[in-house]
Amino acid sequence: MTQTQLDESVEYLKKKGFESPEIGIVLGTGLGQLVDGIENPIEAHYNHIPHFPLATVEFHSGKLIYGTIAGKKVAVMQGRFHLYEGYDFVDITYPIRVMHQLGIQKLFVSNAAGAINLDFKKGEIMLIEDHINLQGGSPLAFKNVSAFGDRFVDMSEPYDLDMRKKIEGIAQKEGISIRKGVYASVVGPQLETKAEYRMLKMVGADAVGMSTVPEVIVANHLRLPIVAVSVLTDECDPDNLQPVNVQEIIAIAGKAEPKMIQLFTELIKQL
Ligand code: HPA
Repeated sequence: MTQTQLDESVEYLKKKGFESPEIGIVLGTGLGQLVDGIENPIEAHYNHIPHFPLATVEFHSGKLIYGTIAGKKVAVMQGRFHLYEGYDFVDITYPIRVMHQLGIQKLFVSNAAGAINLDFKKGEIMLIEDHINLQGGSPLAFKNVSAFGDRFVDMSEPYDLDMRKKIEGIAQKEGISIRKGVYASVVGPQLETKAEYRMLKMVGADAVGMSTVPEVIVANHLRLPIVAVSVLTDECDPDNLQPVNVQEIIAIAGKAEPKMIQLFTELIKQL
């Protein structure tokens, strides 16, 4: 990744009309309905944006959408890049750097995740308070990182406190029950074994998924305030583990998504 590449990506998007978005939003697996609420949308397919990672077949619908939600200019990633698709940490976080250079001042992130904390149920929303990086690498471990910011990035409060409080307030007001907890990121794409679910519980995870943490690290590198939510799609009970059903995971994400959309939309109004 070079500054010239970033400049070229940004120039392409600006020419398409992506003028100073205020908020960047990353939508996770099964969480695409939010884009239906974008007014005056302009779409850029990932494969057409210079220097974006080349989308894989299963990922052909990935696009960046610019428009307004509740009167604020947004850039929304419909679909994200994952390590399990064979990309590296720098690839999968490239779009975050592009959105930052376009001008976003806040980042909203969503994902589908498994519930490790068995008080939490599938279909519920978890506000991420902290995370554990179990992906075995960092998006900041590259040679010229200091050209883009600090190398040793502080992670004492990676999720913005003010936006977390606002989300909690909105949830209470709108009657949406939300959980709060720690998200652990794994590479995937295989799901976890019973022994791994036991380990995740022991190390303090409340939810597990295959994304988000690299993007959050880069957003911290860029000093972008972040709010992140997990839509819990399955219950990871090692003593009663059922074979995974990816179709069901996607269906549950879709069913819970309106709550996430409501939280994000109300938060946009408050910013
Ligand atoms: N593990 C990892 N990733 C996931 C899960 C899970 O149980 N559910 C949804 N994404």
